[in-house]
Amino acid sequence: MTLWQGRFGTEAPADELLAYTVSLPFDQRLAADDVTGSRAHVRGLAAAGILSHEDAQILLAALDRVAAELAAGSPVFKPADEDVHTGVERRVTEIAGEVGARLHTGRSRNDQIATDLRLFAKRELVVVARRIQDLQQVLLDRARAAEDAYLPGYTHLQRAQPVLLAHHLLAHGWALARDVDRLLDTRRRLDVSPLGAGALAGSSLPLEPDLVAAELGFAARFENSLDAVSDRDFVAEALFDLTLIGVHLSRLGEEIVLWCTEEFGFMHLADAYATGSSMLPQKKNPDIAELARGRCGRLIGHLTGLLATLKGLPLAYNRDLQEDKEPFFDALDQVVGGVVALTGLLATATWDTARMREAADTPFASAVDLAEWLVERGMPFRQAHTVVGALVHDALERHVPLAELVEAHPSLGAEAVELLAPGVAVTRRTTPGGAGPGPVAIQMERFAHHLGQQLTGLGGDAPS
Ligand code: ARG
Repeated sequence: MTLWQGRFGTEAPADELLAYTVSLPFDQRLAADDVTGSRAHVRGLAAAGILSHEDAQILLAALDRVAAELAAGSPVFKPADEDVHTGVERRVTEIAGEVGARLHTGRSRNDQIATDLRLFAKRELVVVARRIQDLQQVLLDRARAAEDAYLPGYTHLQRAQPVLLAHHLLAHGWALARDVDRLLDTRRRLDVSPLGAGALAGSSLPLEPDLVAAELGFAARFENSLDAVSDRDFVAEALFDLTLIGVHLSRLGEEIVLWCTEEFGFMHLADAYATGSSMLPQKKNPDIAELARGRCGRLIGHLTGLLATLKGLPLAYNRDLQEDKEPFFDALDQVVGGVVALTGLLATATWDTARMREAADTPFASAVDLAEWLVERGMPFRQAHTVVGALVHDALERHVPLAELVEAHPSLGAEAVELLAPGVAVTRRTTPGGAGPGPVAIQMERFAHHLGQQLTGLGGDAPS
């Protein structure tokens, strides 16, 4: 039975129509939110005197029962239900009897779906933020435990200057901090109730959108009914946030892949977080990291796909909007799965700090320190750069140690040679936010402080 049978003749909907248009297989994920929205709607109808107190109680009791059935995992839906709204209303009517026919008063599936999806997004974006917080905590823990370990920092993937391992790990941590901030910001913007917008224009019945908005815990109600039922900015924005998280995870994944190679050899995965080969017995592969890198493509596809769906839609509701859910749900699942897997991987991996040190301790990594040593003694930087560049060139051409050339140079000499000693360069990065031990110790405190603060302000959703 369809929700629109009155307008139509006796002809049943074509199987092809149903097969192509149903959304129940994926939108049943919104069932609990649909019940929550319906409870508020029933209370709103009762407050407006549209529903008698008794009828409201019967409907609320039926909705409670549906919620309990959903929570228990009992089969609430039937294959013939077109969507989650149809399914919940049918089941409520089965339980409540003829009062069920009053549930949809003054409401459309257009404001209903927008309400459900906003309730869902408000909750799920916090779930993502919490999982990211766990990953940040592991990065901080590992940064603290890394002590004075250092490795080459790269630009263009060429060794550039040594950096503390803690500094490198926290670089990923700060990107994730911005991700959490972005999720909470999106959540703040989407915290608007569309319920009461009806199909597109509001209602002739004395409904109070402010009341149901407060009932549902939304910060505000919609300002414009057309906008309320058409707006999917919040899904696009959430998808962008999730996609950028995916981009950050893919960068992290790529580094893990590199660091686990024999060529780099900086990192070893715990067996539980690595995979083997079906043919090559010696292999140990970083599949989680590779999938974190690869699955990001899918997220970018979801984001661009939804933007293309939204582009050019006339006001107000169009069925095209149903296409918002699958990419959103999948992006949430993929991001949470990736964050959780990488958290476990990073918590259990071991570093080869000797390999890192060996790679970082090339005298050339101190080249800029030599130039800055000359600057401190009055030489213009451009000239100092040329002097040191020529020494590097010479050392490479003639296969002589750089130290020998530095010692022999009239502007440098024995004192400058000390800059080339292993482990010295990283200690010279002393400026705020820099890669040396002094600024990194301060950075770790600031990061820990930020982590403690970043999920506050969520009210009942405060970090556990
Ligand atoms: N399944 C629909 C969606 O996801 C629900 C709203 C349907 N509204 C309608 N007028 N057919 O957008």
